[in-house]
Amino acid sequence: MDFKGKTIWVTGAASGMGKALAIELAGAGNKLVLSDRDAEGLKLTVNAAENKGSACYPIVLDMSDSDAIYKAAEEVIQKGYKIDALYQFAGISQRSKAVETPLENDRKIMEINFFGVVALTKALLPHIIENGGGQLAAASSLVGKFGFPYRSAYAASKHALHGFFESVVAENHQQHIRVSMIIGGRINTNISKFAIDKDGKEHGKMDPGQANGISADRAAKQIVRGLRKEKAEIPVGGNELLILKIKRFLPGLHRKIVRKINPM
Ligand SMILES: NC(=O)c1ccc[n+]([C@@H]2O[C@H](COP(=O)([O-])OP(=O)(O)OC[C@H]3O[C@@H](n4cnc5c(N)ncnc54)[C@H](OP(=O)(O)O)[C@@H]3O)[C@@H](O)[C@H]2O)c1
Repeated sequence: MDFKGKTIWVTGAASGMGKALAIELAGAGNKLVLSDRDAEGLKLTVNAAENKGSACYPIVLDMSDSDAIYKAAEEVIQKGYKIDALYQFAGISQRSKAVETPLENDRKIMEINFFGVVALTKALLPHIIENGGGQLAAASSLVGKFGFPYRSAYAASKHALHGFFESVVAENHQQHIRVSMIIGGRINTNISKFAIDKDGKEHGKMDPGQANGISADRAAKQIVRGLRKEKAEIPVGGNELLILKIKRFLPGLHRKIVRKINPM
């Protein structure tokens, strides 16, 4: 993937990895469509990306609202943007055991992390195919590769993304659709603060996992390297990524580690 002159849509662009990625990509003669539900945060990203020379089209968009997602995609296409890449980072996490999590919380997480991503992909895919193909990327997680305590719905939402996108790329590879799944480890962002607890309230804390994670800027550089090479999976993080190898080669040990891991 050569980002020069491309039109790239980044969701979750107001904060964390989506923001850092948008700013990292800005300036290669490209145009950026930037969306998030946080209008104020979005403005800051737009200013930073425009200062690097990219034209930006900001959209305040709630990824739990499928109608709004289809309307936003239609609006962008009507304005004449030809989307070459769609990188989806909007998402929320969870801090509650499955046994104490009401079903409505599972649905809320699935709505944003899975159905929102699916809706925007479906809204743009025909347009991307018509224009000769493009690159899709979605933020998964280590927890998209294996279950983890206090993350049952979050893990399910990220696992579901793998199934969806593996199918999409298998169906459309000849139409030049490429997919990269971002396998996030521990990245120092606000994700734990906005994670929902068993009562559906914000967890409100920066967990040590995130506090000790790599910066969003470093994560963005790792992501860009992987996207350039059109890698099917892009692991992002530090030493914690070793767990992927443990799972693959020592699955019994992996299960023991996950049972004992501190989920906060
Ligand atoms: N940080 C990590 O350690 C880590 C690890 C693995 C995977 N990930 C994944 O990486 C992605 C980016 O997360 P991050 O770490 O960069 O966290 P972040 O800083 O919290 O960024 C997530 C962004 O998504 C936005 N968002 C949340 N719900 C939304 C909705 N309904 N509609 C539109 N936008 C919404 C948030 O807006 P608000 O600011 O308004 O909430 C925020 O700007 C997420 O999908 C996350 O699951 C993160």
